[in-house]
Amino acid sequence: MQLQARVLCKRSPDFFTINTLGMETILNIPVHKAETVATHQYDLNKLPFGKVPTSHLFLARYSAGEWADARIEPFHKLSLSPFALCFHYGQTVFEGMKAFRMHDGNISIFRPAKHHERFNRSLERMGMPHVPYELFLEGMRLLIATDAEWTPDSPGAALYIRPFVIATEERLGVKISDEYLFLIVCTPVGPYYARPIRVRVETNYIRAAEGGTGYAKCGGNYGGALLPTKEALDAGFDQVLWTDAGRKEFIEESGTMNVMFIIDGILITPPVSSTILDGVTRDSILALARDRGITVQERLISYHELEAAFGQGLRVEAFGAGTAAVVAPIESVTIGERTYNCYLAADAAMYAFKTELEAIRAGNQEDPHGWNEVVVCN
Ligand code: COI
Repeated sequence: MQLQARVLCKRSPDFFTINTLGMETILNIPVHKAETVATHQYDLNKLPFGKVPTSHLFLARYSAGEWADARIEPFHKLSLSPFALCFHYGQTVFEGMKAFRMHDGNISIFRPAKHHERFNRSLERMGMPHVPYELFLEGMRLLIATDAEWTPDSPGAALYIRPFVIATEERLGVKISDEYLFLIVCTPVGPYYARPIRVRVETNYIRAAEGGTGYAKCGGNYGGALLPTKEALDAGFDQVLWTDAGRKEFIEESGTMNVMFIIDGILITPPVSSTILDGVTRDSILALARDRGITVQERLISYHELEAAFGQGLRVEAFGAGTAAVVAPIESVTIGERTYNCYLAADAAMYAFKTELEAIRAGNQEDPHGWNEVVVCN
């Protein structure tokens, strides 16, 4: 199987072109503009998460071992055969990213190279072809430039970017697809959670097992989590705290986010592994914490350790970290029949991480790690 896709170098209006010989990469992606752009119908700073698409989408097709036919088109529905493999055997992979309106009006994407690396790791795990970085970034840049007026400008709001690849070969036989669509769609978003969340430790269902697909952003990981999450919601919680598949003791993730605890001033988070997503927000917060001189421990943490910390009356901050939610403060953790309250006062460190991330993204604070990729200049 060919995992590393070759990029077409045709100079035709229907194809993107890449000049890999020089230092400069030239992509020529045609843009078919929508006749009307409906941003005025919405308050971009107050939309529910993921409801309203922007006016355009990016699309490229993969067949015969090559990505081709890249284009920007007015947002539209897809027409796929019911035989398309993505409907049956789960070859679907996505990323979750954000673009931000900066204080000078420019628009930047947050850490696209790190997201792209993870995208390709997920694709590889699902037997799907890599997407070249030039295609990923240039398609995204062009889409965001075309839909620039959809990028909100209030603190905490952003343009959420959803790149994804689906298997489109028309076959009911179980096989790796030979054909794919790569799409990028965007939606303006505000905060994911309106208030601090209540979580319960899940020891019945598991999200991922070693050697499985837990580290990949494939659709099945999220589909399998829906029923346990519904049961938690029905019981009055907002999310589950996943535990490991073996002993069901070690905390892995919270819902669709990485999870962090600050116990007595030490930031503890489970290490990335084959069962835990290598979160970009996770990595960014760890960097900010280290910059501030906070001790960071990437290690296993069991719910027994949490119980003990709460029991000793230690100050325990807990929060989810993810692209969509950024920092999601956890109000309480329920372990079995007991509920423990987490530290939520205004001086909690998690708020400082969120504020600092927002300031870097808006260009109000230095970007020492070079995380912002400015893609649209005012
Ligand atoms: C993200 O944070 O981007 C995620 O992947 C969560 C999402 C499923 C809404």
